[in-house]
Amino acid sequence: MKHRKLKWIGLLIAVCLFMGSVGCGYASAAPDLWWQKTIAYEIYVKSFKDSDGDGIGDLRGIISELDYLRDLGVGVLWLTPCYVSPQADNGYDIADYYRIDPAYGTMADMENLISEAGSRGIRIVMDLVFNHTSNQNPWFLESSAGRDTDKSDWYIWMDPREDGSAPNNWRSIFGGSAWTYNEARGQYYLHTFLPEQPDLNWENPAVRQALTDVARFWIGKGVGGFRMDAITYIKKPSGFPDGEPDAGDGTAGIHKMTANTDGILDYLHAFKAAVQPGTDIFMVGETNGVSPEDLPVWIGENDDLPDEMKWCERRAWSLPELKEIFSASQQKALLTNGWAAVFLENHDQPRSINHFLPENADRAAGGKALATLLLTMRGTPFIMEGEELGFVNVAWDSIGRYNDVSTRNHYDFAIREGYTAEEALAGVHRFARDSSRTPMQWDDTANAGFTAGTPWLPVSDDYAWVNAASEKNDPDSVLNWYISLAGLRREHPALTAGDYTELFPEDENIFAYTREADGEKAVILINFSTETVSYDPACLEGAELMLSSAGESRPGTLQPLEAAIYLAR
Ligand code: GLC
Repeated sequence: MKHRKLKWIGLLIAVCLFMGSVGCGYASAAPDLWWQKTIAYEIYVKSFKDSDGDGIGDLRGIISELDYLRDLGVGVLWLTPCYVSPQADNGYDIADYYRIDPAYGTMADMENLISEAGSRGIRIVMDLVFNHTSNQNPWFLESSAGRDTDKSDWYIWMDPREDGSAPNNWRSIFGGSAWTYNEARGQYYLHTFLPEQPDLNWENPAVRQALTDVARFWIGKGVGGFRMDAITYIKKPSGFPDGEPDAGDGTAGIHKMTANTDGILDYLHAFKAAVQPGTDIFMVGETNGVSPEDLPVWIGENDDLPDEMKWCERRAWSLPELKEIFSASQQKALLTNGWAAVFLENHDQPRSINHFLPENADRAAGGKALATLLLTMRGTPFIMEGEELGFVNVAWDSIGRYNDVSTRNHYDFAIREGYTAEEALAGVHRFARDSSRTPMQWDDTANAGFTAGTPWLPVSDDYAWVNAASEKNDPDSVLNWYISLAGLRREHPALTAGDYTELFPEDENIFAYTREADGEKAVILINFSTETVSYDPACLEGAELMLSSAGESRPGTLQPLEAAIYLAR
C-alpha cells in the first residue's frame, strides 16, 4: 500500500483529544461516564439538512433528522459553529458568540434542538472557536479602532519592524503572512488562520473572562459539552521570535512556533475550573502539536518540504505504520493517561476510504472495514456526517467548484510554485476539505433530498446510489453495518472499556487486536487489502464469530477488506 502520506495520517491522529478534563493526562481506570459510553457524530451544519430551501443546512433540518441519528446509535452531536459569522471560514470566524446565525435559525430553534435531541438521549456539543474571532466581531472592531479603547489589548498587536514590514516571519496556516497591517493603529495584528480571523490575546484576563462567560452561557442552555477549536494555538511564545524558514520565501509556519507553548495548560486548567464543576459536560480539543516529544511517530519523518508543498506530494506509508500510531495512542495515551476521542474523519480531512485504503477498494466493503476500526477502539468514537454511508472524495474538474478558502489558497500556491493545473488539481482531489463538506445524501431525489433550493456546495455525483434512504433498506449497507457495530458496542463493555492488545503488528495487510474486560475478550480482524489474506487462527481459541462484513468468516482467512469480530467469554 503506497500513495498515502504519513504526514496526513499524523495530522489525523496527532490531534490528541481530551475529554472530561483539560489536557491529556487524566487517568480514568473505569470509564463509566456518559460520554465515555456513547458515540459522537459531527454535523457540518451547513451541509446536513436544509429546511427552508435557501441551500444552506439549518437547525430545523437537524431536528427533522434526529430519529435517523438516534437509530444510528449516536448520543452526542458536535455541531460545527452556527453562531453569527461572515463565513470567511464557514463559521470558524465568529462575530457574535451569543447569537445563532440567521442562515441556521434562531435561538429558539437551538433550544428546541437541545430539548428534542435530549428526549432521544442525545446531547448537543457546541464548537467553541476561542483562538480567534471574526474581524467583524465588535470586540475586534473596537480593538482595531485605536490604541486607547477598552479592548485595545484584546488581540495581538505589534509594531512594524523599522522597515515597516511585519513583526516576524510567521506564515499563517492558510498561507501568506500571519500578520496584517491596520492603518488606524499603525500596527500589525496576528492571525493564525485568515486575516479575517484575528487571534485573541489570552494573556489578557478580561479576554479569558469573556470566553468563560460564553461557555457558561451555553452550559446554561443545556449543552452536553464543547469542542475546543484550534486550542493548542492560544498561547504564543514570549518575544514572538522569527522561526526557522521552512519555505522558499523565508517564512516559518506559525503552527510550528505557537502550538502547545509552555504555560498553555495553566489557561486550560483555569478555564476548566471556571466552567466544569457542578456539570457533567465534557470538552474535546483539537490539539495539534501536543507532546510531540512523546509522539514523534504521529508526526512522521522527512519534514524537509514546506507544508504547502507536502500538500501536493504523495508519500508512501504502510499499514504497520498506521497500526503503530493507533496502538501507541491506545496503549500509551489511553490506557495509562485517560480517555480520548477516536476518529478517522472530520470536516478538515478528506474521506477516509480514499485516504486509508487502496485505490481499487470497493467503497462499501472499505467503509465497513474502517467503521470496524473506528467503533472497536478504546475511546469515544466520532463519526463524521456521511462517513456512516461510506462517502468518498469528490474530484471536480475545476478549482472554481471548490468553496474552501484553504483549498483554494493551497491550489494557488502550488501553481505559483510551478506545478501544472492538473498536478495541483490532483492535490485538491486528494486533500480538499470540501470532500467532507458536500451536502448529506438523504435520498435519490434532486439534490439528494438535502435542499429544495440550490445547495451552497455541489452534491456529490454518486447520490443516486449512495444515500441514507437506500442504505436503510439494504441489510448489507455501510449504514446498517454501523448500526450493528453500535449495538455490539452497547452490549459488550469490552469494546468500550476493555484493554487493547495488538495482534500481528508486522502484518502488512491485517489490522488485528483484542479488547478485553470482565472476562470477555473480543478479537477484531480487519483486512486493509483487496486480496484474500490468511493469519494464524490460534488467536481465536474459544471464540465465536459475532459479525463479519463478508457474511461468513473462515478462521484463519479474511476476504478482501473483510472485517470480522469474534468473542470469547
Ligand atoms: C480548526 C477547524 C477548521 C478551521 C480552523 C480555523 O482547525 O477545524 O475548520 O478552519 O480551525 O478556525
